[in-house]
Amino acid sequence: MVDFDFEVEEIVEGKARILVPKTTRGKGPGKKEGVPFYNPVMEPNRDISVLVLQNCLSSGKNRILDGLAGTGIRGIRFAMEVSGNLSILMNDWNEQSHAIMLENIRRNEAQNTEVRHEDLNTLLTSDEFDYLDVDPYGTPVPFLDKAVKGVRDGGILAVTATDTAALAGSSPKACMRKYGATPIKSKTSHETGLRILVGYCARIAAEYDLNIRPLLSHSTDHYYRTYLEIQQGQSQANGTRENVGFLSVDLSSQEMFLEEEKKDDFVAAGPLWIGSLWNPGFLEEMRSRSYMPSETSRILELLKLESQIESPYHSSEEIASHLKVHTPRLASILERLNEEGYNASPTHFDSKGFRTNAPIDEILQIFKKT
Ligand SMILES: C[S@@+](CC[C@H](N)C(=O)[O-])C[C@H]1O[C@@H](n2cnc3c(N)ncnc32)[C@H](O)[C@@H]1O
Repeated sequence: MVDFDFEVEEIVEGKARILVPKTTRGKGPGKKEGVPFYNPVMEPNRDISVLVLQNCLSSGKNRILDGLAGTGIRGIRFAMEVSGNLSILMNDWNEQSHAIMLENIRRNEAQNTEVRHEDLNTLLTSDEFDYLDVDPYGTPVPFLDKAVKGVRDGGILAVTATDTAALAGSSPKACMRKYGATPIKSKTSHETGLRILVGYCARIAAEYDLNIRPLLSHSTDHYYRTYLEIQQGQSQANGTRENVGFLSVDLSSQEMFLEEEKKDDFVAAGPLWIGSLWNPGFLEEMRSRSYMPSETSRILELLKLESQIESPYHSSEEIASHLKVHTPRLASILERLNEEGYNASPTHFDSKGFRTNAPIDEILQIFKKT
């Protein structure tokens, strides 16, 4: 075995057995100093990327880039769990990452893989891919300009953001500085934060006459993640611009509006993505070709349900506190909404949240009576 300057241990994730640095790990984003970087909390993030790739490959050769690869775990899982005509490039500018990736590829006999160690932005100036993964520390903003152009027509850009303090409103100045957007701090701010991230990608793409179509997006633990289909063409890009607007909240009624313009006198977040965060047809047809852990399956089942309803989700705690009533059980709220003839679903964003097409007056009535 290769000698490293740090202690290593082997972990198993999906079909891969990966050497990672031996450190004490907790929940959360992980420590930037722990190089090469590996965070077990991100397993559902990697599981879902395997699943997306299993379900979106074209019949020709598919060039894949794991642009910020760390130990190479994601790219190696792609090689071992996704069948099809793939060529997988794994890149990380860190030398120790480069060394551990080569060893991990050798140990797993991962086929059709290649390793680089250079700055991702430099790599993207001269190459393009059918699937491009950007999984940085903190914000993806420094990579997005090159990344949207680094995806071929019809290909997929997958983006992680762990700077949720900025996007979800705890650090509004940081959100404005990085994303040029105003967040909202509330019990539903993770959806707003995810929409700001997607909206930012859409604005960058539109500058280059590119269109984005979200296939799947989620907010899990300390991070947001979105998979965007990139399409070329000016008329398409105009469609993208129409999907960027604001979320306005009427605090006197808790009504929310996703519209191109802000509503006067209401609290507003944006610019952000006002279209769907998912492609419900893609989610419905998505089939797993390998074992998925229960937490990953749970997230996917919730996404399938909530993707059917366009309106932003409500926090039952926030509505109950607004009405000064006890928070009803989520199951009772969903049941009552269904009885009244509305669509209603739980949401992966919040175990006490729900999504519905019912007007706010109906929702408030149900809370008063339940
Ligand atoms: C959060 S880690 C990636 C984790 C990995 N994707 C996984 O699933 O385990 C971010 C990685 O990006 C690398 N990195 C940061 N800036 C970079 C740049 N400009 N070009 C290439 N690699 C970079 C770091 O060395 C680090 O390994």
